[in-house]
Amino acid sequence: MGRYLIAGNWKMNLNQSDSRALAAAIAAQAGDVEADLLVCPPHVYLNQVAAEIAGTPVALGAQNAYHEPSGAFTGETSVAMLADVGCQFAILGHSERRHVMGETDADVNKKLHAVLAGGLTPIVCVGELLAERESGQTDAVIAKQFEGSLAGLTAEDATKIVLAYEPVWAIGTGKVATPDQAEQVHAGLRKLLSDRYNAEIAKSIRLLYGGSVKPDNAAELMSQPNVDGVLVGGASLKAADFLAIAAGASKAS
Ligand code: PGA
Repeated sequence: MGRYLIAGNWKMNLNQSDSRALAAAIAAQAGDVEADLLVCPPHVYLNQVAAEIAGTPVALGAQNAYHEPSGAFTGETSVAMLADVGCQFAILGHSERRHVMGETDADVNKKLHAVLAGGLTPIVCVGELLAERESGQTDAVIAKQFEGSLAGLTAEDATKIVLAYEPVWAIGTGKVATPDQAEQVHAGLRKLLSDRYNAEIAKSIRLLYGGSVKPDNAAELMSQPNVDGVLVGGASLKAADFLAIAAGASKAS
């Protein structure tokens, strides 16, 4: 496994000047952090954030992407457009895209192939609902999302992706998965990857945990053998919290 990846998903928050200030504050400290840092602002602020982090180790990501290259798709953003403003990553199939906007595994799969073709790194999210966990369906739900979202992914391309496990019941709720719960699903994802490709490829893919990650729980989550980083929502909106979470990567490794 390479370095930990600490990704901030700003969701639909902040304004232009707050976005710039947050990016600048993170970039100013990024050199002191022993982890890869990624910020994912709203599309409308990508350009401004790109300017703030230019020449620093902080990477830029989009929260979503559309699979078509161009044309009559009102309100959507193509992968080429995202690359044009400096994005290196795109989050795909976030639970809010799946459960609020109705995205399916098939949608996520089309986006995955478009993002890879466009040279960006996809961060593909999977995660079960509370009712699914309580009825013992977690593994089945994750396996179904894995198969559907990653359909047709070649071994070569598999090495270029990041996966994020985000239990829906833990997102924005303050109810973080326990390190054991996270590790169990991550180990399952690693096995799915290993069975489909091989152990070496499975090991090379970073598996992020997301859902109420905070400075006080990040290090313990990342100390689990199959947790290679975190995808952070609420706590990524404060530079000090995001950087404290990133500092947890050195404690974990
Ligand atoms: P949260 O969001 O950290 O606010 O729970 C995580 C996410 O949705 O990526």
